[in-house]
Amino acid sequence: MAAKKSASGSGGVKASSGRLSGGGRVRAKVPVSLGERSYNVELGSDWLTTIGRRVSGRLAAERIALVTVPTVARRYAPMLTRGLTAKGSRVRRIVVPDGDASKNLAQLGKLYDRFLDHGLDRGSAVVTLGGGVAGDLGGFAAASFLRGIPFAQVPTTVLAMVDASIGGKTGVNLAQGKNLVGAFHQPRGVYIDVATLRSLPRRERAAGAAELIKAAAIWDADFFDWLESRIEAFLDLDPKVVLPALERACAIKAEVVSRDEREGGLRRLLNFGHTLAHAIEKHARYRGVLHGEAVAIGMVFAADRSEALGFAPAGTCDRLTNLLERAGLPTRPADRPRSAYLSAIAVDKKKQGGKIHFVVLDGIGSSSTAALRPQDILPVGWSA
Ligand SMILES: NC(=O)c1ccc[n+]([C@@H]2O[C@H](COP(=O)([O-])OP(=O)(O)OC[C@H]3O[C@@H](n4cnc5c(N)ncnc54)[C@H](O)[C@@H]3O)[C@@H](O)[C@H]2O)c1
Ligand SMILES: [Zn+2]
Repeated sequence: MAAKKSASGSGGVKASSGRLSGGGRVRAKVPVSLGERSYNVELGSDWLTTIGRRVSGRLAAERIALVTVPTVARRYAPMLTRGLTAKGSRVRRIVVPDGDASKNLAQLGKLYDRFLDHGLDRGSAVVTLGGGVAGDLGGFAAASFLRGIPFAQVPTTVLAMVDASIGGKTGVNLAQGKNLVGAFHQPRGVYIDVATLRSLPRRERAAGAAELIKAAAIWDADFFDWLESRIEAFLDLDPKVVLPALERACAIKAEVVSRDEREGGLRRLLNFGHTLAHAIEKHARYRGVLHGEAVAIGMVFAADRSEALGFAPAGTCDRLTNLLERAGLPTRPADRPRSAYLSAIAVDKKKQGGKIHFVVLDGIGSSSTAALRPQDILPVGWSA
């Protein structure tokens, strides 16, 4: 067994003043400690213009490319740009089409063209505004343009806030598969305005909440308890719940990434539920199922197997399933034969001597990876 988490529940959740509006200032800061590449995740509410000023101060760039998507650009780019330009930076807004299909080499090429068009040089910077698609694409453009220029992330989905924007993974998809080309490029800062979540569809909020629940399940039993009495309030964007929940989930991701920047061991724990999730998404051709929804099903599967294999005490899977169901997430895998599941979880076993690093729960709030053969995870006679 490897990558055992050292202590369970290192943080707990901080109390919140309960104000979601009338912001304009930073309300919480989460450090991502990576030596000279360290940065903060800063959270607040109704403070996009202030974010713009802070980002431009941090990047100190004469020219900035603002990479975003249509829905988000319309609503939030003007306020952010007002702040970005306040200290004299020249900002070019670049809007890429919505959806994961935009995370490709063709869009990347267009971004480089627009960067050159705007006169970006080594003293320039990129700011991404949107969900994980804008962040991954814009981040990879920043990682590769002129061998890398600085960038900052302004995530506007729950998923991007607690997961995609933190940790420096950037990249694009190829026709052959997701995220096959990319680079590690840490942002100079991540700036969250929770008020942007008001326009995010509830289904997208729930899908992002799956990653939040994942963070609690693998790392922090107290946070999981706390969420159990507040998940509906989170989805309703109750101000007393949203900011502290996001702050705690960001802190977990930041801690894992700080201890394992390049996925040598600990960072694998973040893949809890993802082996099956990737297979589900692939099988659906990435249509009709959101990533977080596939992760919810994958986590229940992994928790069930954790119990069956003797890692987690009885009842662990039920608790996780209940919380996910209350968030409106799917939890049941499709009724397919064992052979289909075997091949789904065995996708990358060849690289690891016939065994896969399967992330198991040792209980709510604690996880580890176990090197297992697919047939150990799914014994003969298993059915979905
Ligand atoms: N880099 C990483 O470590 C990492 C981690 C997890 C996921 N990802 C990537 O993130 C992507 C998924 O991210 P996502 O779930 O944020 O998807 P997304 O970026 O496609 O956003 C989801 C939808 O919400 C819309 N939207 C975004 N913010 C909004 C707002 N505030 N109001 C209204 N609509 C809004 C978008 O236009 C889009 O239609 C995938 O490409 C995935 O591979 C990356
Ligand atoms: Zn995920």
